[in-house]
Amino acid sequence: MRLDKFLADMQLGTRSQVKEFIKKGLITVNGDIVTKADYKINELEDSITCKGVSLSYQKYRYFILHKPSGVVTATKDNRDRTVMDLLPKELSKDFFPVGRLDKDTEGFLLITNDGDLSHKLLSPKKHVAKTYYVECNGILNEEKIQKLKQGVDIGDDKPTLPAEIRVIHTSESTYVIELTITEGRFHQVKRMIQAVGGEVTYLKRLSMGGLSLDETLAKGAYRELSMDEVERLKRN
Ligand code: URA
Repeated sequence: MRLDKFLADMQLGTRSQVKEFIKKGLITVNGDIVTKADYKINELEDSITCKGVSLSYQKYRYFILHKPSGVVTATKDNRDRTVMDLLPKELSKDFFPVGRLDKDTEGFLLITNDGDLSHKLLSPKKHVAKTYYVECNGILNEEKIQKLKQGVDIGDDKPTLPAEIRVIHTSESTYVIELTITEGRFHQVKRMIQAVGGEVTYLKRLSMGGLSLDETLAKGAYRELSMDEVERLKRN
């Protein structure tokens, strides 16, 4: 791999910024200062430092994006902006969103280049928990709460699996709940609410696989997961 690509992949800066670092002699490879951006390194074996700080290459990386409404969950789209447009360009080649949030849904979205973990998190057999904050039009009563909890017919072969509900607010014609589901069927939350005679007016994913959206992460912002968080995700 080229040295400048490695440094940009490590998020040290843009490709032109890292080229400047290299030119200035701030980068060493196996103890020697290297001033050529196209110098070839073995990212898994060579010891590379920037200003004396050692950089280790991670094959897989994980980002949490606070998805805003209006962008589509895809790697490419001919018409709309995608979630990948909100991340650094360097990530556009190998990274992808894990699962899908609708264009108008906001909240927790994991972006990674780890196909294996993505597959596990999305596998119907793994029952990974996802919690949504859901604002609805309609009337919520005990019967509907029980239906949503126990499983509802949303027009698929089988009813939905049991879900958890926390009622946050109800009025005569609207309600707000937190709904935790362990499947990922197409438009699942909207279809569950529809099945009990309601309509989702706002949907936000709060958590997935034991990780929650940070209060401080603004809409459209992202951050890299810590090693502890990645471990937690793998355990869940
Ligand atoms: N359920 C939905 O209906 N939409 C989403 O975006 C996510 C879950």
